Amino acid sequence: MKGLTIIGSGSAVPNQVLSNQDLSSIVDTSDEWIESRTGMKERYVSSAQESLAQLAAKAAINAISMANLTPEDIDLIILATSTPDDLFGSACQVQNIIGAKRAVAFDLTAACSGFVFALVTASQFIRQGVYRNVLVIGADVLSRWVNWEDRTTCVLFADGAGAVVCQSHETKDNFLGFELCSDGTQNSSLNLAYMGTTHNLLENISVGSGSYQTINMKGKEVYRFAVEKVPEVIEKALHRSNLTIEDIDWLILHQANQRIIDSVATRLGLDKQKVISNISKYGNTSAASIPLALDEAIRQSRIKPGDIIAISGFGAGLTWGAAIFCWGGSN
Ligand code: UT7
Repeated sequence: MKGLTIIGSGSAVPNQVLSNQDLSSIVDTSDEWIESRTGMKERYVSSAQESLAQLAAKAAINAISMANLTPEDIDLIILATSTPDDLFGSACQVQNIIGAKRAVAFDLTAACSGFVFALVTASQFIRQGVYRNVLVIGADVLSRWVNWEDRTTCVLFADGAGAVVCQSHETKDNFLGFELCSDGTQNSSLNLAYMGTTHNLLENISVGSGSYQTINMKGKEVYRFAVEKVPEVIEKALHRSNLTIEDIDWLILHQANQRIIDSVATRLGLDKQKVISNISKYGNTSAASIPLALDEAIRQSRIKPGDIIAISGFGAGLTWGAAIFCWGGSN
């Protein structure tokens, strides 16, 4: 079995900034409500001309460059997204944009848990010795799928991309443990469902034809689920890593709500100084939120090589999961 190191990170956001003040002129809300209930102040949203693949590619290039690799060194690209430009997947578009000619590329859908699920998937290919350099991207453009008349969701979701480069190693293993969970019985708490209308082909044969609805979320239910399940899944991942909460240098949760982040940290008994949050600037960017926060903290030199990081994602599916790793090629 090979070991895994995480040797590069990158991120990207679109150009347009949408503030709480801006939102209060679109729906009946206020800066005070949004900030006190969620911790969000502003977020980035893509224009109709900007693509998910371009955003993901920018984050990818930044990560590959930090890893001192070239796109041609990449063997596998996993793009965690729920908002591809193409329903058949956008990973191959990213492969083409960055020129990762040798890479196999595919999409992975696990909503806001997507980055954690993709990183764990990458680790399996690396451990088995199948691929050496794996690019894991979390990217979403949820602004396309928000109902801009629904104040309970439109103030929350935003756009962004983050990426890491994982590399196999003969002796070092910096991917310490993980735990993933799904519960389809709660699917209707948070979904973006297909909207089919009947198209009659022949007298006795019909097919569905249609598009998708907008994001539907029962906020309170998802909130309760998150504060209960996230500490649990982190503790399981720590157990699998033979670590305890005292060993963790940094906690990065999916950035859905500052109150969820605070509550999870308190339940885990973790010092607030060790919790990374950038929700005030970016809002909820779904699969991008963890790698965006990770990359920002690495580039600010808050996270240093050798630091042990716990990440946890949660969201639609419902899905949730946690992974524990050590940042950098050295340990
Ligand atoms: O990324 C996937 C995972 N997603 C999450 O983890 C989200 C989890 N849920 C949450 O973060 C929170 O439930 C929300 C931020 C979505 C909502 O916060 P809340 O404290 O649970 O508010 P609420 O839904 O209980 O609404 C409280 C009040 C309601 O008014 P009434 O019924 O008390 O009169 C809402 O109508 O706030 C009202 N409200 C708003 N008011 C101003 C809801 N949205 C807004 C708004 N502006 N944008």
